[in-house]
This record gives sequence, structure tokens and C-alpha cells, in this order.
Amino acid sequence: MGYRDTYDRWRNDPSGFWMEAANDVDWFSPPTVAFEPSAGVYGRWFPDATCNTCHNALDRHVEGGRADQAALVYDSPVTGTKRTFTYVELLREVQAFALVLTDLGVAKGDRVVVYMPMVPEAVVGMLACARIGAVHSVVFGGFAARELATRIDDAMPKIILSASCGIEPGRTVAYKPLLDEAIALAAHKPSACVVLQRERLKAELADGRDHDWHDRQRNALADLAGGRPSPCVELAATDPLYILYTSGTTGRPKGIVRDNGGHMVALRWTMEAIYGMAPGETYWAASDVGWVVGHSYIVYGPLLHGCTTVLFEGKPVGTPDAGTFWRVIAEHGVRVLFTAPTAIRAIRKEDPDARHAAGHDLTGLRALFLAGERADPETIRWAERLLDVPVIDHWWQTETGCAVAANPLGLERLPVKHGSPAVPMPGYGIRILDTEGRSVSPGVMGNIALELPLPPGAAVTLWGADDRFRSSYLQTQPGYYDTADAGSVDEDGYIWVMGRTDDVINVAGHRLSTGAMEEAVAAHPAVAECAVFGCRDELKGEVPFGLVVLKSGVDTPTTDIEAEIVATVRDRIGPLAAFKKALVIDRLPKTRSGKILRGTIKRIADGEPYTPPGTIEDPAVLTEIEGAILNANER
Ligand code: COA
Ligand code: AMP
Repeated sequence: MGYRDTYDRWRNDPSGFWMEAANDVDWFSPPTVAFEPSAGVYGRWFPDATCNTCHNALDRHVEGGRADQAALVYDSPVTGTKRTFTYVELLREVQAFALVLTDLGVAKGDRVVVYMPMVPEAVVGMLACARIGAVHSVVFGGFAARELATRIDDAMPKIILSASCGIEPGRTVAYKPLLDEAIALAAHKPSACVVLQRERLKAELADGRDHDWHDRQRNALADLAGGRPSPCVELAATDPLYILYTSGTTGRPKGIVRDNGGHMVALRWTMEAIYGMAPGETYWAASDVGWVVGHSYIVYGPLLHGCTTVLFEGKPVGTPDAGTFWRVIAEHGVRVLFTAPTAIRAIRKEDPDARHAAGHDLTGLRALFLAGERADPETIRWAERLLDVPVIDHWWQTETGCAVAANPLGLERLPVKHGSPAVPMPGYGIRILDTEGRSVSPGVMGNIALELPLPPGAAVTLWGADDRFRSSYLQTQPGYYDTADAGSVDEDGYIWVMGRTDDVINVAGHRLSTGAMEEAVAAHPAVAECAVFGCRDELKGEVPFGLVVLKSGVDTPTTDIEAEIVATVRDRIGPLAAFKKALVIDRLPKTRSGKILRGTIKRIADGEPYTPPGTIEDPAVLTEIEGAILNANER
């Protein structure tokens, strides 16, 4: 079946469509009902089924003849390490680590925070949680202690898994002091931490609380070899598999909850239908396990489908050069690569003629998929010329867990329109609505809303906050899920996503809240008020820019204060915020009702023409700001 037939098949019978897809995973007790509309916030998928995600990711393939096939290839240019785990080897590691968790008192429903770099142990930790029904919550390593503390207080983990350090080009990031500081800041205290000691930098372990990962794992492996069982726990399909925090409009992140059953069914389906992958082939998502792309397409999707997944600890450039991606593709026989456009922009900037691709056999690659931010046509064209494969932009969010719109190569290769992530995927009815909630005509911009219910695999709620889920997503466009993205649909049904309608910005494919950054800026004692907004950046798409008004009487030189504010944001949110621009000004442009005109400021900073809104209190302030930004750029 091609795309149109498949989409119509879903439209005509969503329950039948997903029940059929459910046949492709193993269940303890298979679903007899696809969907229960009265359960949960907007209904729940597979309400009477039981299953285990780890079983489907590992045991099933070992039992089904893939024991000696590579499951995970760890390629780490920053440490000079490469290691392959077959399915049976990865299963053994996960079974053993499940025993480690159990011995530390972790049981079904307990939360486990994972604050780790891109090492195989992070994947082992996630799958071991899935095995025993514990709920993992991975926190990206680039977040500072305070952000980690916020997540600890929300998820209230029984234990935390971490590592002594992460390795960034040019510096070693000591994770353990950040972990200790986060635990000190948090009101909730975990009962234990398991710390992976890495060669580059060993950490001090706290007596009683901290455990050495290798010691614990070695003992558990011996127990396993001695016949101690480590079974997959039978879970309701609706039980939570993980919580993943993502940025909202405020400093309080949203804990997206993913279930077990719907998630498995949806991800496995996408591996085949969207990415065109066959079991046994190698898939590489060049992202991080701290992001949704890492959850869905480094860990769960490829393993659920019996593929080999690549875990890459490095950057597109500088580790050691702009040819790293091409080397990994050639060396590990990657069939499909998934990354953020910013990674391709970084490679192109460093190596515009792709000299570093020479000598790497890229003929096995079938497609490059891009997501995380809008894929600019120039970048797509460059990659198309170099790789001579389809370069597919697809659009999704942490909340959806997989693509809402894509060009589904596994079903049919649709014509590519540069700048559009193509068409809606089965499960998603996309509507473009105006501010009154009415559908607009083709080609007209509006808010992108999704029909309810959301399909299997999408967020089922926010952790411990059903009402916040309703108010964040379901109330602004009654009857629909509000994506907080703006865009249009053209006459051919292709979606065009233009950007966020809220205070979220995308920095190098990382989703960040300007609201959270404003809270961090305002924490500086000299700051009276501030506005943080996303400013166009050639490499990262957007970078944050903060305009700051000081309290009266502050006599410290403004350049010192600007530097202190940059340091404050780095300290409170983390380096990944890439907050490097703060500018002290006399006053902020506001409406007569006191609302800061962030949209207009952004246009000024991007050098775009702007019209002062009719509601502005004093239009002269815009000219002042334009001058201040010009001066700052010349500094
Ligand atoms: N732990 C600690 N610090 C981290 C980190 C981690 N896991 N990841 C990033 N950082 C730090 C970096 O060291 C950098 O710090 P610096 O300000 O001291 O240099 C800062 O956070 C910003 O990092 P990054 O966004 O990686 O920017 P960069 O300038 O080092 O590299 C790119 C630019 C484009 C190469 C890089 O952003 C990239 O590879 N992007 C791909 C995006 C991606 O995978 N997105 C995931 C969604 S698909
Ligand atoms: P995240 O939750 O981190 O995946 O970020 C989701 C947001 O990134 C979306 O709401 C969009 O604003 C943006 N985004 C992701 N993919 C695309 C894409 N292909 N085109 C345009 N924007 C995208």
C-alpha cells in the first residue's frame, strides 16, 4: 500500500489500523480493545493489554534468531573507543543491571533519573528500567545542576544513574559535582546513586549513597551466570515507560509521559513505514539519549525493529573533523541517518566542498532524515548533492514521540518540496486554525492543531499533572491538541511549519524556554527587567539574546554586568542554552498595557523590517534599541 491508501485506511478505521500494527509486537496478554475514550486525559490505547518493552527490544530478538547480530555499536571519537554489543550481549548487560536496580530497592513504578553522557551504560540503564517496570527520566548532560534539581523534585526518583564525566571537545565535564549540587538543591533526595567511573576523570563517591557502577554490574553478572533469574515484569500497556522533560513557556519543564504499549506499536511501525528499515539493517540517529530523538531512534525504535543502532559520542565537527559522520556511515554500514539540520550546517560550514567525504564509501546510505528545527532548503540541497539520496525533513515534537508529518519512504517516496516536512502520518489529522478556532484555507498561515485522540506513542499526560496537560495542550483550541507551532497546508496537502507561537526557541535543534532564561537573567541582583528572545543564527538556527534594564543606582560597568548575566544563565540553565549575548539598555519596548514587544525586538535584532505596533507605549524606544544592538554588534 502506498501513502494515500495507508492514510485512508487509518482514517476509515483507526482502531483496526492500530490493532493490526499491534500484531507486530509481543504481548503477555494481547489487546482486545484498541482504544478506551473514557480513560486518561484524552483516552488510552490498548487498555486491557499487558507487555514489556525490554522484552520486545531484546529478548524477542534473541529468541527469534538475532542473538549474534549487532544490537548496539558504540563509536566514540572523543575517547577513541569502539565497541559492538550483539543482541545477546546487550541482553545480558541489561538483565544484570536490572538486578542491580532491584537490589537497590527499585521496583515497578519507581522513577530512576539518568544523567549520563552518550555511553552504552546509559542505554543499559534505560532498558533495565523498562525490564522491571521502573520509569526512567533521562536528563541531558548539558543541563546545569539547578535544572537537574527541578527534574529530581518533579520525578522524585528512588535512585539516580550517572557518570563521573562527559567529554566535550576541548574539555571534560565533571558530572559528579553537578549531580551532588543538584541533590543538595533538590527537596527530594534519592536513596542511592550508581556512578559510572570513566577513565578520563574519576569521581569521589559518597559513603553510603553512591555505588560504583562497574562493581555492582560485575557482581550482578556473576549472579546471572550463577542462574539468578532476571525476568521481564508484566506491565499494563498503559503503564508509564518513561518521563522526558521538555521546555515549556515557563521555567518549570513539562514531564512528558510515554506509555509502554502504544509507544512500542507506534515506533516499530515508523521504523518500517517512515524510515524504510528492515530488521538486521543499521540505523543511526546522531542525537543524544537526553532528547526525544535519542529515546525514540537511538534506543527504542531500532531495537524494537531488530535493527543495529549506532550510539555516537562525538560532534559533527571537531571530533576530529568534518568527516566523522561520513566515516561512521561507511564503517558501520548505516542505511539511514537521522540528525538535526544544524549538524549538517556545521559540516557544510567547515567543509563546504565535502573534501572529508572522500575515501568513505557512502553508497549504502539510503536516506538522510532531518528534524528538530526547520530544515532550510540550502542545507537540504547541499546534502542531496553530496549524498545523492533523499533528504527528508520531518516534523515532530517531544510530545508526539515520532513524526507527525513526514515523507514516508517505507510506504512510498513522495515528491520532496524543499522547506516542507511533507504530509501527515497515519494517526494525525492536521488542522490549521485561526485565532477563533476556524479552519483556514490552503496556503493561509494559522496555528497547527492535531485532531484528538492523539495516536499510540504520543504523550499520555504530564507527570503528576493531568490538569497542566489539559491547560497546556487541549484548552487553547477546544477539541484539538495545540502544537504551539504555526504554519500552513498547501493545495497538495503538504505542511509548512514556520515556527513556534509560544516562548520556546530552538537552539542547534535543542528546545529551550526563553521564559526559563528570563528567570535566570532576573536572578542577577542588578536586573530590574529583561526580555530574552531567539535571534537568527547561521549555524544554530537561533541563539538566545537578552535585553536587560538595570535597577537604578547600579554603578558597575555595564560590560561587567553583561558578562555576569551570561555566566548566571550558564550556571543556572547550562552551557547548552548557548546564551552568550546580553545587552544593557535603558528601557524595553512595551504596549500601553505593559506587555513587552518581544516579536518586534526579534525583528530588529534579525535586521528585518518592522512596523511599530499601534499599541506601543512609545515608538522612540524601538530606534534606541536598534542603535544599541548595532553598537553591540560592532563591539
Ligand atoms: N554535556 C555537557 N555540556 C554539553 C553537552 C553535554 N552533553 N552537550 C553540549 N554541551 C555544551 C557544549 O560543550 C557547549 O559548551 P561551550 O559553550 O562551553 O562551548 C554548549 O553546551 C553548546 O553545545 P552545542 O549545542 O553542542 O554547541 P557547539 O557550538 O559545541 O556545537 C553543533 C554546535 C552544531 C556542532 C552542535 O550543536 C550539534 O552537534 N548539534 C546537533 C544537534 C542535535 O543533535 N540535536 C538533537 C536533536 S535531533
Ligand atoms: P522538540 O520537542 O525538542 O523535538 O522540539 C519540537 C519543536 O521543534 C517543534 O514544535 C517545532 O517548533 C520544531 N521542529 C521540530 N522539527 C521540525 C521541522 N522538521 N520543521 C520545523 N520545525 C520543527
